[in-house]
Amino acid sequence: MDSIVFQAPRILEIGGGTVARTAALLARLGFSRPLIVTDPFMVSSGLLLRLTGPLRDVGIEFDVFSDTIPEPTDVIVIEGVKRIKPEHDCMIAFGGGSPIDTAKAMTILAAVGGAMRDYKVPASADTAALPLIAIPTTAGTGSEATRFTIITDTAHDEKMLIAGLGALPLAAIVDYELTFSVPPRITADTGVDSFTHALEAFVSRRATSFSDALAISAMRLIGANLRVAFHEPGNAAAREAMMLGATQAGMAFCNASVALVHGMSRPIGAHFHVPHGLSNAMLLPAVTRFSLNAALPRYAEAARLSGFAAADDADQLAGAKLVNGLDELNAELGVPTPGKFGIAAADWHSKKSLMAEQALASGSPANNPRVPDHAEIVALYEAIYG
Ligand SMILES: NC(=O)c1ccc[n+]([C@@H]2O[C@H](COP(=O)([O-])OP(=O)(O)OC[C@H]3O[C@@H](n4cnc5c(N)ncnc54)[C@H](O)[C@@H]3O)[C@@H](O)[C@H]2O)c1
Ligand SMILES: [Fe+2]
Repeated sequence: MDSIVFQAPRILEIGGGTVARTAALLARLGFSRPLIVTDPFMVSSGLLLRLTGPLRDVGIEFDVFSDTIPEPTDVIVIEGVKRIKPEHDCMIAFGGGSPIDTAKAMTILAAVGGAMRDYKVPASADTAALPLIAIPTTAGTGSEATRFTIITDTAHDEKMLIAGLGALPLAAIVDYELTFSVPPRITADTGVDSFTHALEAFVSRRATSFSDALAISAMRLIGANLRVAFHEPGNAAAREAMMLGATQAGMAFCNASVALVHGMSRPIGAHFHVPHGLSNAMLLPAVTRFSLNAALPRYAEAARLSGFAAADDADQLAGAKLVNGLDELNAELGVPTPGKFGIAAADWHSKKSLMAEQALASGSPANNPRVPDHAEIVALYEAIYG
C-alpha cells in the first residue's frame, strides 16, 4: 500500500480576533524577539497595529521590515535578509501571500546563502534560519499552511516555485477579521486563487484521502461564500468561511500539489505582472474544459460540492455546468481576458512559447489529469487571450 506523507504547520490558531493572541503563541513556542515582515499598506492603513499593539502591551520588542512588494522578487528577498539580526529568534509574516512568501524566502536564503534561483524546484529547500509564524490578511493564498514560496527571478522574468520544509510555517494565526478591509477586486482574485487550489488539489494525480478531505471542505466553503464576500465585504459569516476555506485549500494543495492552471499562471504573472489570483481566473475555465474528460467524475463532484451543479446531476451534466459556471463566475467577478487587461497581442504571442516552456519546467502540469505537451499549452494561451 502506498503511504501518505502529510505536512502542515505545528499549530494553527483559528478564529476572529486571534491576532491579539500572538504574544501568547510566541510564549508557548519559546520566542521573544520577532522580526515582522509585512507590506507598506499594512503600516499605512493601521492594520499592522492589530498585531503590534498587543505585542507592545506585553513588552515584546520587535523589528519591522515593511518594504515587501506584491508578487515578490529575489531582489526584495535579499533586502529582507539584510534586516535579520542575530537577536531575532523568529519571524512573523503579516499580510497577503506576498509578505508571507517573502518571509519564507528570507528565512531559506538566510540559512544557507547563495542565490534564490538555487532553491527552485526540483531542488528541495528544507532549511530555514528562523522559524516562521504566518498571519494572512487575505483569503487567500493558503501560504500560511504550505511548503511553497513563489519568488520572481528578475534576471530571467521567471516566477520560481520553491518548495520544501524551509518554507513551511511553524505556526499560523488565521483571523478572518483581518480581511474585512480587502477590496472587492482583491477579494475576487484571492478567492478564485483559493478555489483553484482546492479544485487542483482534488483533481491532482497526487491527491490522497487526506488532501481530498480538506479540498472537499474548502470547495464547499468557497463555492458558497465567494460571491457573497465579493458583493458584501462586511459579511462576517462569508469572510470567516472564505478564510477557513483558503487555509484548508492551502493544506490540501501543500500535500497534493497544484496542476495546470498554476503551472500556466506563474509565467503570465512573471512576464505581464498580472496578480496571481487574476491570472488563475483567466485560465480556470479554459483549463478545466481542456482537462474535464480526463477526470470527469472528480470534476463533476467538484461542481456539486461548490454549487455549480445540483446534487443529483449526472457526471456529464455536472461537468458541463462546472465549465459554464466558471465562465459566468468570471463575468460576475469582472475578470478580464489578458487582452482586456491591456496586454498587447504581439507581446502575448511572442511570449507564449517561452511561457509554455516555463510552465512545463515548473512540474505542475504533470499533476494535471490530462497532461499537456508544449503545443497544447501554447494553444491554451492562444485560446484565452481574448
Ligand atoms: N506560497 C504559496 O503557497 C502561494 C500560493 C498561492 C499564491 N502565492 C503567492 O502569493 C502572492 C499573492 O498574494 P495575495 O493574493 O494574498 O496578494 P498580495 O499579498 O500581493 O496583496 C495584494 C494587495 O492586497 C493588499 N491587502 C492585503 N491584505 C489586505 C487587507 N486585509 N485589506 C486591504 N488590503 C489588503 C496588499 O497590501 C496588496 O496591495 C503571489 O506572489 C503568489 O504567487 C503563494
Ligand atoms: Fe495559487
